[in-house]
Amino acid sequence: MTTPAEHPIDTARVTLRDQFGRGIEYLRISVTDRCNFRCQYCMPLEGLPWLPKAEILRYEEIVEVVRQLAPLGLRRLRITGGEPTIRPQLVELVRMLRAIPGVEDIALSTNGVKLPELAGPLAEAGLDRVNISADSLRPERVAAIARRDLGFDLGAAALAAQQAGLDPIKVNVVVMRGINDDEIGDFAALTRVHPWHVRFIELMPVGELRELTWEHVVPTAEVLARVSALGALADDAGPARGNGPARYYRLPDAAGTIGVITPMTHTYCDTCNRVRLTADGRLRTCLFGDHEVPLRDALRRGESLEPLFRKALAEKPKEHALLQMQVGGLRALSQVGG
Ligand code: 5AD
Ligand code: SF4
Repeated sequence: MTTPAEHPIDTARVTLRDQFGRGIEYLRISVTDRCNFRCQYCMPLEGLPWLPKAEILRYEEIVEVVRQLAPLGLRRLRITGGEPTIRPQLVELVRMLRAIPGVEDIALSTNGVKLPELAGPLAEAGLDRVNISADSLRPERVAAIARRDLGFDLGAAALAAQQAGLDPIKVNVVVMRGINDDEIGDFAALTRVHPWHVRFIELMPVGELRELTWEHVVPTAEVLARVSALGALADDAGPARGNGPARYYRLPDAAGTIGVITPMTHTYCDTCNRVRLTADGRLRTCLFGDHEVPLRDALRRGESLEPLFRKALAEKPKEHALLQMQVGGLRALSQVGG
């Protein structure tokens, strides 16, 4: 492990740019490749070949990566998985990340199962915001899509997050034709009364999964047309506008907003501001494709990570090739950090 004295922090804040001039300030940190769900669009029922523990970065190692990259402009973090809340002591990781100079914002992406018990401690440790994945409001359907019945209830999870003061609260819905697209209106209606930001995501038929195909993709234009049946949608530049590729709208007098994320029908790569750290310590510069730079060995040898970060940004691709790619063969998002 590197000690702070070996690689002192330069307090002059710069934001490194990649080869296309995009400022990179957002790091998604996958803390585990495992999950307590087996969502149809993400993982096979039997799970995946999990990483051995020795290959997974310890919390101290994750903290060291962030401590070295924060002075290079990384100021926003998101903790992802797999399912991050199943890794023990996640609260302690948040507390350690919060203490790093230059870290302005810490978010969590979770399936929400553990939020009723964890939202309070996570917020107290310094978590700012949360994204909850929820593909149905009906318990038996949640269990069918996740292929595990863990009693997930979006209301309980989101209210726990709200009471803990996490803000904003975003709800991610992967829309699948014939599976949950009849709930688009119910999800959208939640935003009338709750200050939550419901985001409809186009299904990406990736991984080895053969059950879901392009026929299950519901284009965002169709989602918005259906939501419009509830009322006129106004563009919204409000609190939900975050670091990412979503566009937001609001129903008349609604407390929350409706967002759309369009990986299948549009690319938004020209404004990409992010890189990813996999659970086993590789820096991935694009969600899809094989653009990655391993950090773990250098980290464990106590070397500076700056040259590796610069190399990763120099190689960051212009855009993903999802629209041109054959379906299948891509890595499941649980392995990439979503
Ligand atoms: N298509 C679309 N969204 C996906 N997610 C995971 N796999 C897919 C996929 N194949 C979403 C999850 C979560 C976010 C991190 O990524 O639902 O909200
Ligand atoms: Fe787990 Fe999220 Fe993948 Fe579902 S989508 S199996 S909750 S990592």
